[in-house]
Amino acid sequence: MIIQPRVRGFICLTSHPEGTAQNVKNQIDYVKSKGAIANGPKKVLVIGASTGFGLASRITAAFGSEAATIGVFFEKPAAEGKPGTAGWYNSAAFEEEATKAGLYAKSINGDAFSDEVKKQTIALIKQDLGQVDLVVYSLASPRRTHPKTGVAHASVLKPIGQSFTNKTVDFHSGVVSDISIQPVEAEDDIANTVAVMGGEDWKFWIEELKAAGVLAEGVKTVAYSYIGPELTYPIYRNGTIGRAKDDLEGTVPVLNDLLKDLNGVSYVSVNKALVTQSSSAIPVVPLYISLLYKVMKEKGIHEGTIEQMQRLFSERLYTANANDLQLDEKGRIRVDDWEMRADVQEEVAKLWEQATTENLEQLSDIQGYRDEFFNLFGFNFPEVDYNAETNEVVTVPSIG
Ligand code: NAI
Repeated sequence: MIIQPRVRGFICLTSHPEGTAQNVKNQIDYVKSKGAIANGPKKVLVIGASTGFGLASRITAAFGSEAATIGVFFEKPAAEGKPGTAGWYNSAAFEEEATKAGLYAKSINGDAFSDEVKKQTIALIKQDLGQVDLVVYSLASPRRTHPKTGVAHASVLKPIGQSFTNKTVDFHSGVVSDISIQPVEAEDDIANTVAVMGGEDWKFWIEELKAAGVLAEGVKTVAYSYIGPELTYPIYRNGTIGRAKDDLEGTVPVLNDLLKDLNGVSYVSVNKALVTQSSSAIPVVPLYISLLYKVMKEKGIHEGTIEQMQRLFSERLYTANANDLQLDEKGRIRVDDWEMRADVQEEVAKLWEQATTENLEQLSDIQGYRDEFFNLFGFNFPEVDYNAETNEVVTVPSIG
């Protein structure tokens, strides 16, 4: 079929198999261009492996460190006349490239929050890898059915305590407007957001993997967090999602305790703000990102998900010298260090004040934002002819 983008707000309903494959190839090429990661991981489980930071982590482990990877994700397979989700096609392309390179790669498509998918993953590790030496936890989800209570929790993106008014942008039209977001009314909303995006499920994973004996001596586990600038605090770090990130970060000492007898260690890495399917859903953040991209590109320090993950693995997680981790006062790895540089933040803050619908194209990198948004779904790649027929029924080889 001929597949063109069909956009509804911050979601694109279609994805292009060749374009997503191009996206994966570009990321692989980048990792290869940076050379081998000394002492990198060899057997890796990535939970949330199909898009964004999780996909980039999987690519970095495989093509930077020749790691065998198992990826867990929740994606819609392709069917005749109905393209699959981008994460489905990404995973198909990844497995194909990994196999070509002689690397083991298998995937599990299902709800990572469930006990069943955890069991399935453990069985696959036992069968094929024996143990894993790195577990990446990179889920971003709007809901979670709790495996023990059966309660369905839905997360919300809201301020806490008082309403928040600031600028936002419709990144398709480029219209800048004010948006007021009402604060959460019920404590329940906070608890639900923590239940979905906090650390409990990460802990469940590590507990179950450990109990099954599939974590190697010296295992590492890492999950991803975000802080960002003060201007987004009310909606991000001091809002409901921030509470969930506090909870995720608070899980690190618990996991360190759990992993002590394996000489294992857990980390949270605070990553840079980037265009992903999840971040484009947060009000105010897309305008911030489009200004941030402008400033960071001008300074020659812009990174995408793959550059971030390659730097995380090669310069933080797997450096010979533990001091290179450069943990902050709360024990977090900071690969948002360039985003948070004072000179970057000062310039973004200045541009933020000035940004209007009329000057947005000059002031910001809104075009770069749009491009990256379409890239997520396999569109806007010069190598691909979007008017040509393409085979939409692509399978992930290990799933079928
Ligand atoms: P994403 O939306 O690109 O990826 C989410 C992944 O989770 C996908 O692989 C998806 O299939 C999987 N997933 C979602 N629900 C699932 C379920 N029930 N079962 C199995 N898999 C499921 O998200 P992104 O942006 O890469 O986020 C990953 C982590 O990075 C999140 O913790 C996020 O908060 C964090 N982060 C994101 C930043 C950004 O700017 N995008 C910045 C810093 C941190």
